[in-house]
Amino acid sequence: MPDSHASYLNAMGIVQWRLRAGRTNGPAPRSPAEQSDEQIGGLDEEALRETVAVCTRCDLYQTRTQTVFGVGNPEADWMFVGEAPGSEEDRKGEPFVGRAGKLLDAMLASVGKAREDVYIANVLKCRPPDNRDPHGEEVRQCSAYLLQQIESVQPRLLVALGRFAAQSLLNTTRPIGKLRGEVFEHAATHIPLIVTYHPAYLLRNPLAKRQAWQDLCLIKRTSGPP
Ligand code: URA
Repeated sequence: MPDSHASYLNAMGIVQWRLRAGRTNGPAPRSPAEQSDEQIGGLDEEALRETVAVCTRCDLYQTRTQTVFGVGNPEADWMFVGEAPGSEEDRKGEPFVGRAGKLLDAMLASVGKAREDVYIANVLKCRPPDNRDPHGEEVRQCSAYLLQQIESVQPRLLVALGRFAAQSLLNTTRPIGKLRGEVFEHAATHIPLIVTYHPAYLLRNPLAKRQAWQDLCLIKRTSGPP
């Protein structure tokens, strides 16, 4: 920078930054939107939330209103994992706030828990347009976020809500009917995992509520005394 230019900036009180001698202008630190899975694995809850909020890892950022991170007690014993935000969740920025969410609240109440007692998150943090099924690549790009949420909450029990969350968390293609009623182990964290029906499915198939009640009893028995 010519001296006259420098003194002009100086006179205006504008601080000029220069590289220290011997330093090269190496790659810039990654912005939150560009963190690697490894970097995501080192984030605390607040940094993770900020990173998710600006995520552009898959195309869903182009159609979302906002990301939907997770809600509840950050030290919960039970962590519920759904599929992806729907239109109301996309609008409000909170998981399970629509009709399915009201049923989830009622299911929790039936075993003496409130939404604030547990932690609720989704496999995807952005709404797939027209509520279509998530694509494999979207799940892959989002999986480090969910894993870090699980690591940060460290629940005693994971509950997969519906086929999609169950198959993603257990890395299986087994149908939900063959996953219910058993206590699995989440491979990445060794946390026990139980599968139950998605509340949206229960709204469409009220007769399945009987089995969902059995699942809730299994959840209670498995997690032990409060
Ligand atoms: N369905 C889900 O799987 N998650 C939500 O947050 C809402 C509906």
